[in-house]
Amino acid sequence: MTHDSPEFHGQMSHYLARIETAIAQLTPAPDTRPAPLHAAMRYSLAAGGKRLRPMLCLAAHAIFPSAIDPLPAAVAVECLHTYTLIHDDLPCMDNADLRRGHPSCHKQFGETIALLAGDALLTHAFLLLADAYRATPEIAVALVHDLAEAAGSQKLIGGQVEDTIGEQGEITPERLDYIHRNKTAALITAAITMGVRTGSGGTDVIEKAREIGLNIGLSFQVIDDILDVTSDATTMGKPVRADQDNGKITYPRLHGLGASLNHARCLVDKAVALCQEIGGDTAFLAALLRSMEHRIR
Ligand code: IPE
Ligand code: IPE
Ligand code: MG
Ligand code: MG
Ligand code: MG
Repeated sequence: MTHDSPEFHGQMSHYLARIETAIAQLTPAPDTRPAPLHAAMRYSLAAGGKRLRPMLCLAAHAIFPSAIDPLPAAVAVECLHTYTLIHDDLPCMDNADLRRGHPSCHKQFGETIALLAGDALLTHAFLLLADAYRATPEIAVALVHDLAEAAGSQKLIGGQVEDTIGEQGEITPERLDYIHRNKTAALITAAITMGVRTGSGGTDVIEKAREIGLNIGLSFQVIDDILDVTSDATTMGKPVRADQDNGKITYPRLHGLGASLNHARCLVDKAVALCQEIGGDTAFLAALLRSMEHRIR
């Protein structure tokens, strides 16, 4: 299955429809009291993200499928991811007015509700895992572990801290690597390992999933940094040239655009090659990883 085949696109559409339905079903309705909060949560969730992390979760489950439903885990990851975007856009962080093609959450609902909608989405992710996987406690604990570790102070938040204070600090490749591993690759890795956790593969598959996650996660942020320079706000659905304006440490800033593209490609190649080292059905996952190299938004 190649990333440009009808088979791949058909599978993507099928998964996407299931993800959208599950997001609507597994998050509180927008008129739930307090309505402004739930409206804001739904607004940011429904605004139209690529759903890459839930897709990776389903693709990872499909390597060694099982009767356990990976969708609640996929939705939990998307809730957590959406919270990070809401907070990332706040004036005290990247101060971005546009997200997923719409005014960012604080522009639409004000900073107070945006902050609290982010908090609530973060918490909701763990409620989903506890409720959906209560019949399989070992899996539930593993899922909670993967998500909490990825989102925690030494990974996602640590990366966001160094990204933000990095605006003043020293600009080194080591610093950039720390930021990309943690603010981005950690959650992408969790999306993949959580998909594996809901499947029937063993711990060796988890190890490979972590390696795949690191490589595809790093490439994802390098490409995000490239697109911030080369794309436009309409295509991206978020402000461009924002990294430069905020004085961020990015891959193109440190190494130039050409080297950034090469590096992103190498990382995708590595992630795809790692798929071959897993015994199960990695056809869709490998095509999905390859498609990420060619993304335009
Ligand atoms: C944006 O993530 C944040 C980064 C880690 C670069 P996505 O590019 O996956 O955003 P959505 O979910 O499609 O909006
Ligand atoms: C975002 O990095 C990482 C997280 C939200 C954790 P960016 O700040 O580069 O993401 P965008 O470009 O605003 O989507
Ligand atoms: Mg940021
Ligand atoms: Mg940002
Ligand atoms: Mg960015």
